[in-house]
Amino acid sequence: MKKKINKKNIKNLWSGRFEESPSETMLRINSSISFDKTLYEQDISASKVHATMLSNQSIITKEELKKILNGLTKIEKEIKENKMQFSDKLEDIHTHIESRLIELIGALGKKLHTARSRNDQVATDTKIWLREQNKLIDKYLKKLQLSLIEKAEANIFTYMPGFTHLQVAQPTTLAHHLLAYVNMFGRDRANNKSLIERHNYSPLGSAALAGTSFNINRDETSNNLGFKAPMSNSIDAVSDRDFILDALNLCCSIAIHLSRLSEEIILWSSPGFNFINLPDTFSTGSSIMPQKKNPDAAELIRGKSGRVIGNYVTLFNVMKALPLAYSKDMQEDKEPLFDSIKTTKDTINVMSEMIKEITFNTDKMLEICNKGHINATDIADALVADLGVPFRDAHMITGKLVALADKKKIQIHELNIKDFKKVDKRISKNIVNKITLEASVKNRDSYGGTSPENIKKEIIFSKEKWCND
Ligand code: ARG
Repeated sequence: MKKKINKKNIKNLWSGRFEESPSETMLRINSSISFDKTLYEQDISASKVHATMLSNQSIITKEELKKILNGLTKIEKEIKENKMQFSDKLEDIHTHIESRLIELIGALGKKLHTARSRNDQVATDTKIWLREQNKLIDKYLKKLQLSLIEKAEANIFTYMPGFTHLQVAQPTTLAHHLLAYVNMFGRDRANNKSLIERHNYSPLGSAALAGTSFNINRDETSNNLGFKAPMSNSIDAVSDRDFILDALNLCCSIAIHLSRLSEEIILWSSPGFNFINLPDTFSTGSSIMPQKKNPDAAELIRGKSGRVIGNYVTLFNVMKALPLAYSKDMQEDKEPLFDSIKTTKDTINVMSEMIKEITFNTDKMLEICNKGHINATDIADALVADLGVPFRDAHMITGKLVALADKKKIQIHELNIKDFKKVDKRISKNIVNKITLEASVKNRDSYGGTSPENIKKEIIFSKEKWCND
């Protein structure tokens, strides 16, 4: 049974100086309860900490505190059990909880709002919520990194064509390619961690904007809510949404990393590439073409990056010209934030599950490693190393070899020694014989390069850096 809202109490909490109630349309656009009810737990814990501080400072009595805390616990249970009826008339989660407290414990409930405002309340609640979400994002990114590392570990010797401009460039390995994404998501995790560190300061106690004349203890509330310290400027504290903008930015970065990987999955699963088999669990069929298996999960992740970037742009636009301190425009911060965080969590999780289930057509990848004159750079490098030819000249000579191979409709490594000699007589059989796919991959052992020896070390390092905490 939903708790009936007592109509008498639906007078707005601020209605003292008003003769008329808000219009229906005003009520609708003013109300944020449909989305900010997400913050109910944070609002209740911040209220409990605030009330405890009021009692410790002798602003309310211990007896009063007890009743307030009990009332708040009861409200939390009601909301959790879906028993609270929400109404646009009560605007937001803060007013709903306060009104219900007054219903439950009477006039005493009106004391809870001493020395605070919804302005510091909403900033505090949102920060606490975001802090919890950040932890989840870190956990999910870690899982994704682990899926990628495990796939990499199984594919240290899986040759794969490396691309630039989506043209075959140089041979590489699947492990090396996947580890690139491990690093990208690693930067996201570092960004996520520093975001929490930079913003973990409490707005609570800043009240409307200028602080309060009550003898409050902001250190106590900050400590008890897990912040490092109270924010030092009350005007900044109620106007600041940088923590949300930074979170939206982080979501964009994660989203584009996921989207790039999705794009590769989409390409790799098309017949042109045929590098991978999509798991049934992350694909869909067509209602008309019986043969189709579409990479919908990857397409959705790629598509959803659009809305995450849109959310970022939305809030930057909302904030760009707001005078200090609080303005109601700032209520527009929550929908983009909630949406981006939810989308980010979902897409990370879909990607880590999908990565685990994708299987690679290593034969097909190897086949493409024998196309596009993939060994051309190795030939140029060999001319430098073995004949002492300056690299620019070696590049020119190899370019001529490529042109000759093209004319003969073969690959550069399929030219015979006579062809090589025709272009430059210094080239010996010895040099030509050294040009193999295996050697090409093995010899690129510069730090960060594709050689299996490097990649083995990189896997150990990545596991230690990203998966051990
Ligand atoms: N629902 C409001 C928001 O999300 C809470 C703060 C309202 N403050 C005010 N002065 N009207 O921003």
